[in-house]
Amino acid sequence: MDIKNIFQKAFTLRSTDELIATSKKTELKKTLNVFDLIVIGIGAVVGTGIFTIIGTAITGNAESAGAGPAIVISMVLAAIACVFSALCYSEIAAMIPVAGSAYTYTYATMGEFMAWMVGWILMLEYAIGNITVANAWTGYFIHLLKGFKQYLPDFIINFPLWLRYDYTTVKAICDTNGWDIHDKIPYLFGQIPIVVSIPAAAIVLLLTILLVRGIKESTRFASIMVGVNMFMILSFIVVGAFYVKPDNWHPFFPADPSGIVMGAFLIFFAYIGFDAISTTAEETENPQRDLPVAILGTLVICTILYVCVALVLTGIVPVSKINTMAPIAHAMSYIGKDWFSGLISVGALCALTTVLLVYQLGTTRILYAISRDRFLPKSWRLIHKKYKTPHVMTWISGLIVIVCGLFMDLKISAELCNFGTFTSFIIICIAVLILRKTEPNRPRPFKVPFCPWFPIAGILICSFLMFVTLHTIKTSSRYFLLWLIVGFLIYALYGYRQKRLEEKHRVATKVELRKR
Ligand code: ALA
Repeated sequence: MDIKNIFQKAFTLRSTDELIATSKKTELKKTLNVFDLIVIGIGAVVGTGIFTIIGTAITGNAESAGAGPAIVISMVLAAIACVFSALCYSEIAAMIPVAGSAYTYTYATMGEFMAWMVGWILMLEYAIGNITVANAWTGYFIHLLKGFKQYLPDFIINFPLWLRYDYTTVKAICDTNGWDIHDKIPYLFGQIPIVVSIPAAAIVLLLTILLVRGIKESTRFASIMVGVNMFMILSFIVVGAFYVKPDNWHPFFPADPSGIVMGAFLIFFAYIGFDAISTTAEETENPQRDLPVAILGTLVICTILYVCVALVLTGIVPVSKINTMAPIAHAMSYIGKDWFSGLISVGALCALTTVLLVYQLGTTRILYAISRDRFLPKSWRLIHKKYKTPHVMTWISGLIVIVCGLFMDLKISAELCNFGTFTSFIIICIAVLILRKTEPNRPRPFKVPFCPWFPIAGILICSFLMFVTLHTIKTSSRYFLLWLIVGFLIYALYGYRQKRLEEKHRVATKVELRKR
């Protein structure tokens, strides 16, 4: 096959009509309403960011200045960075309610190769992002266990380090305490270190089983978890409000104003996830109406909650005394409410569990869409006869997170997740601009206002944040580039051929059937 032909195929667009027709033939059950979608949205958004990262965003660290009480400004800035992409997601998701999120929209606007690359990048946001959350889950779980030290045996409270965290974290703990890592972990054949985060692996395994059983069951479970976590956050705001000392808000602005920008950059992680709503488009009863309402609703609810939490947190604890590992739980201990601090840890575990659940759901739905487009083996997209879920894909996604979680630590996976998210946000804004040109007359139940200015603003803000990050965080930038190269190679050596092979097979089967 000549190069021109390969290029033509790699940049062939998938027609919007064809995409919609495929989604209509879906075997997935349409069971989700707007309430379920908002539960999925809040479940995906409220997690590590507000329960853990907010501490560092306020206080700063060795590399960057903190925002102090002005974290509320950082939060609004981060929300603005998201809102343009959220509007773009809403327009496209309502117009093309097909599983696969940014992957599918790219196929309709930029062609096969770009779609594959976006699907590959989305794996950073979902699967690799979930490694961050699973690691944070382990941290809170161990924190909670310690709260029960009077009631539980020592071997449960202090189980071995090599069964608790990933290798990098164990190494950091050993370095901090001056321990020799060889005394703390076993080695296979004296060479290969054995380190398995049992809590992280166990929670991902449990959620995978739940997702195989059905999306409705999973969202029912998620709504209970979101309920508990919302209750804890609201209680924190209401109870904490009585202990706020306005003096703690002075000075409101940090000495180094760059702290506000760094705060916005860090807290951006807390907003990631509203786009997960669009990955369930094919399972939504009334996608045209419900998707935009759910996406924008989630963003507004979370921004209001975050700003209130930040005001109360900085109002009750002086900036210099804010804890960076469990800032919200610690704030309650600070005002002498230890029992409430324990409850906050339970709320945090619920929040992190729902983030894990929604991200696993997102990973499988994106891989399902990629496989349905014939880039991945047919067997991967098999639907479970009884539960009507893509069970093979669900298991593959679960195993990816469990296995990669053995090697990756929280910091690197969070940064890679940010890169993936910025890229997908930029692509979505570009896709809206392209579709407005190529399909001006297609019905749009929801339209981004002030087009093209809002999508352009989204592209500029996300590109700026991504550029700043790429510039400052060297290790993750290298991994990100490596990720792109590996994605390209898989497409060139496998995905492209696989698709052509399946297409050939499909044509041959049709001819055979006609002959009969
Ligand atoms: N927004 C999600 C969290 O904060 C990713 O955990």
